[in-house]
Amino acid sequence: MIEVLRTVDGMRRWHRQTTGTVGLVPTMGALHDGHRSLVRASKGQADRTVVSVFVNPLQFGANEDLSAYPRTFDRDVELLKEVGADAVFYPSVEEMYPRGESLTRVAVGRMGQVLCGRARPIHFEGVTTVVMKLLHIVEPDYAFFGEKDWQQLAVIRRMVEDMNVPVAVVGVPTVREASGLALSSRNQYLTPAEHRLARNLSKALEAGRSRYEAGERNRDAIRQTIWNWLQEQGLEPEYVELVDPDSLETAPRQLDAPTVAALAVRIGRARLIDNLMLGRN
Ligand code: PAF
Repeated sequence: MIEVLRTVDGMRRWHRQTTGTVGLVPTMGALHDGHRSLVRASKGQADRTVVSVFVNPLQFGANEDLSAYPRTFDRDVELLKEVGADAVFYPSVEEMYPRGESLTRVAVGRMGQVLCGRARPIHFEGVTTVVMKLLHIVEPDYAFFGEKDWQQLAVIRRMVEDMNVPVAVVGVPTVREASGLALSSRNQYLTPAEHRLARNLSKALEAGRSRYEAGERNRDAIRQTIWNWLQEQGLEPEYVELVDPDSLETAPRQLDAPTVAALAVRIGRARLIDNLMLGRN
């Protein structure tokens, strides 16, 4: 049986009555196989798994898709029952932000301003603020995040470390369609033609990886390979960058350590991101 908890008090009561370790999978709903793999990872490590479903207004910019973001709660609960989650924390906006606005925010400095942070300047502060709240409300032993949102994962790891939050942050590998397209709730925005075009994100990253594996270590050469691939398909990248996996700082000109190649591209209504690790098995 899965319990649906809509209040902070209810969530805390559930935790008090639970024995063993707890894993938290924070989500904004519109669940897909990527989320399924996060729940599986949690079930593999923790005795109980809580999934939060909350579309967090704080992390959406004024011109972003807050109102259009897919909300499919009944379907989400069915998926979570099937995969064996124990509880769903499903608060309203009023329950999470009872005073209308959170005056206190968790800022992650420069890590939130690079990569996606350039186009979405308030996004990561919104993410860290809500994740910090969720960690305080649920008090999990483990929290699971997808590697598809590499910047989010790195920012949350750093927040947890900087603030001594007693939780182990676990990154879970990206789940992809057979075509290579990384699963994302925002893929729902794509028309069939755009969906075909979107396969090029992972293909471009793979082209960069092939050069790396052939011995290329020049950062700009690999970046250019990825960029060119996208442009040749008629895509205009918002960014393509090679960065340190932990600090997110630009990788050195000659790559000498594991590096994340990350990109963002807008296709139709969707802003899609993807990344791939170079130099780590
Ligand atoms: O990755 C997401 O779905 C969201 O950014 C998160 C971590 C649930 C915070 O709202």
